[in-house]
Amino acid sequence: MPSANINNEVAAEATRRRTFAIISHPDAGKTTLTEKFLLYGGALTEAGAVKAKSGGRKATSDWMELEQQRGISITSTALQFNYRNHVINLLDTPGHRDFSEDTYRVLAAVDAAVMLLDTAKGIEAQTLKLFEVCRARNLPIFTFLNKYDRPGRDPLELLDEIESKIDLRPTPITWPVGIPGDFKGVIDRQSGGFVRFTRNSRGAHAAPEELVNPTQAATEEGANWEAALEGCALLDEVGANYDEKSFLAGESSPLFVGSALTNFGVRMLLDAIVDLSPEPSPRVDDQGTPRPLGSSFSGFVFKIQANMNPAHRDHVAFVRVCSGRFERGMTVTHGPTGRTFSTKYAASVFGSDRDTIDVAYPGDVIVLVNASDLRIGDSLYQQEQVRFPAIPTFAPELFARARVRDSSKHKQFRKGMTQLEQEGVIQVLLDPDGDPTPTLAAVGQMQFEVFSHRLRNEYGAEIEIEGIQTKVARRTDSETAAKLRGQGGVRVYTKTDGTFLALFDSAFWLQRIEGEHPDWTLEAIMTDEAPKS
Ligand code: G4P
Repeated sequence: MPSANINNEVAAEATRRRTFAIISHPDAGKTTLTEKFLLYGGALTEAGAVKAKSGGRKATSDWMELEQQRGISITSTALQFNYRNHVINLLDTPGHRDFSEDTYRVLAAVDAAVMLLDTAKGIEAQTLKLFEVCRARNLPIFTFLNKYDRPGRDPLELLDEIESKIDLRPTPITWPVGIPGDFKGVIDRQSGGFVRFTRNSRGAHAAPEELVNPTQAATEEGANWEAALEGCALLDEVGANYDEKSFLAGESSPLFVGSALTNFGVRMLLDAIVDLSPEPSPRVDDQGTPRPLGSSFSGFVFKIQANMNPAHRDHVAFVRVCSGRFERGMTVTHGPTGRTFSTKYAASVFGSDRDTIDVAYPGDVIVLVNASDLRIGDSLYQQEQVRFPAIPTFAPELFARARVRDSSKHKQFRKGMTQLEQEGVIQVLLDPDGDPTPTLAAVGQMQFEVFSHRLRNEYGAEIEIEGIQTKVARRTDSETAAKLRGQGGVRVYTKTDGTFLALFDSAFWLQRIEGEHPDWTLEAIMTDEAPKS
């Protein structure tokens, strides 16, 4: 058992940690907000300059070629910075619904999330799934209505939309004075004071925040102030007030209004993350027992990334620390195999840069290099054994067959496919009749594109992908799999992890079998805690 001193140290360090992710649709301003967080955390001296110039630390995770071409963020990265004597771990998530499974995995590693919305757009149909995924994890969620400096929608209408579309009750902490595009500042609902918005040229430096008392605000802002007060009265009337219990249960969401580009509202949001967001708590293992924070080191892999550094052709695993004090160089046990794993090459990642990490505590993310034996969901520990619950996969919705163009590249194709599957880029289904052409399965179309692009660029294997007529997938077990083999309209595949997937030619065949055999195992979603679709 660790000594009392270490125990106290771990408890004190965990209390200082805040680990969260930002979920948003592309273009809502996630990169900008991330950069501003770093600015306020002192990790950047000047926002904007970094993104534009090469050589400096990159605030974004847009380090893969494909991401840059498309201008989207596909992979997730962990950033760490200090703010108000706290250590903030910010995990990036892909801003596209096709990668909602990746988002779901990242959410397994955080204690809270920020849902960032563009005030002009609200919750768009194409990103609804991402937010549902976030909501389905019952994580505490903050909401930030961004781009308030530009014309946009009525905030009350946005509140309604959030509640009706994702069943999350917004409780505004700040409320806007002025309309989107003619933004004057916000009322801090708790103090009743006015925080005046001052335009700041692209927010290179922290925004000046002028605090104005209500009497002065009424005189200076006139009708805008009156309208904001009316808005607040309405919020009071419907009880849209901050409530810790429902926030921590992921049912209500403290909401902030601002403009990441000009930095307005960024500090208020960051303060709320420090003050309201939960600190790391004992993680429950797969038997339902919480592992005390002060027990020996434990963590789990939530992301695998091959070839992150193309020069080294490496295979890295992102591990969320759950308990104990991690020290680089310590030997840990790899849960699934019981083998020891050396952590000599542990690092923390900042965008595409990697710094060696020496010590980490619950809530932190460590990156293990040369981790080719590690898989998503694997537990690592020292001393007392632990197994954290598996991270669920989604039922795939799209299927395709992949063939390598040049048969001399078959070996590279196989290797790439295996590694990319381990990362969760796509799922690979093995044909029941032994056909060597693999069937690929995905939740979103873009996963196939990423797969193909990375096979070409990282493994030198050019492939052709041929879509298969849409099927309906259900997870099944070996018993039902055996019975399904004699049925029409369905084929049973095995996944490389040994689980069974039944692919029905259409919903008709599925309904028919479900109707005739209600006792057969046919699960729509991979686990019962997976999101609503
Ligand atoms: P993303 O990572 O979520 O995809 O969004 P990103 O931060 O890249 O922002 C998308 C665009 O929205 C950028 O403009 C950015 O400057 C702008 N933006 C972000 N926050 C705000 C805000 O609060 N107010 C306003 N008015 N704009 C905002 P761009 O023209 O695509 O790029 P750039 O030339 O400004 O870098």
